[in-house]
Amino acid sequence: MISEKPEVQTPEVQTTEITEAWAHFDARAYLNEYYSDLGSENMAFLNYYVRFFASLPDNAVNTTKLLDFGSGPTIYPLIAAATKVNEIHVCDYLEPNLAELNLWLSGDRSAFDWREFVKTTIEMETSATPTDREIAAREAAIRDRTTKVMPCDASQLPPIPGMTAAYDILVTNSCAEAATNDYNEWQRFVANIAALIKSGGTIVMSAVKGANFGSIEQSEADGSLYFPTVSIFEQDLVDVLTKVGFEPSSIVVESVPSDRPSRKYQGIMFATAIKN
Ligand SMILES: C[S@@+](CC[C@H](N)C(=O)[O-])C[C@H]1O[C@@H](n2cnc3c(N)ncnc32)[C@H](O)[C@@H]1O
Repeated sequence: MISEKPEVQTPEVQTTEITEAWAHFDARAYLNEYYSDLGSENMAFLNYYVRFFASLPDNAVNTTKLLDFGSGPTIYPLIAAATKVNEIHVCDYLEPNLAELNLWLSGDRSAFDWREFVKTTIEMETSATPTDREIAAREAAIRDRTTKVMPCDASQLPPIPGMTAAYDILVTNSCAEAATNDYNEWQRFVANIAALIKSGGTIVMSAVKGANFGSIEQSEADGSLYFPTVSIFEQDLVDVLTKVGFEPSSIVVESVPSDRPSRKYQGIMFATAIKN
């Protein structure tokens, strides 16, 4: 069992692209916009992670090392992971996201409240409503297992300075396609991210499907914020995963529609694959 406080690494000096596209990113506003309710997209995310982590062998909890790459200020993929893996690392490109994560990991009372997500994940796992104590125990398990919060940059190889192919499981949600609006660059970013996974390890990836925006934009319909996002579909995920070294027969892709008409994308795609 890991009980030390997460090791916090200071972000490297950032590139000019950050200042252009992401300089005004507000981590709390992002959380409030995308994670203040459990609409069908968020239910699909939780359900996907519950199913994925339930499929791991019991002994995974002793050895498995997981990274959430481009976690943003979120912890929702870690809820189902926390009782199934040995060690969790998280990384993101933006310092405000790392600060928001550290606020939650340190149990600060002003941190974003993930309890509904924790409660719903446990309900999905057990088909029973958890007590407040069970919810608190799962939050403690996430904090206990999370040992590193690091800066990362998908445009670099390796995308975490000094890091080798260290991870058994790499989770990455809406990251590479939100880091560029260029298709070839997106493929390169996925390759860089995949380089962090051990041979035989698994990528668990979600991506926005059919995005129709090219820069950080505010929706006229509901004020939602959108990031520079390459427009990709299910076959693009199969193609990129095959190209960057995952076993083609292991690739499984599924998708759900977006949960409100004002979203400027068609849905969310999920993919898992095993690295050669
Ligand atoms: C749409 S958000 C997704 C965040 C989170 N994974 C989630 O599911 O809500 C995209 C994330 O990609 C990160 N990002 C942007 N450019 C990046 C880069 N070059 N390398 C790594 N992450 C990047 C942003 O900081 C942001 O947290």
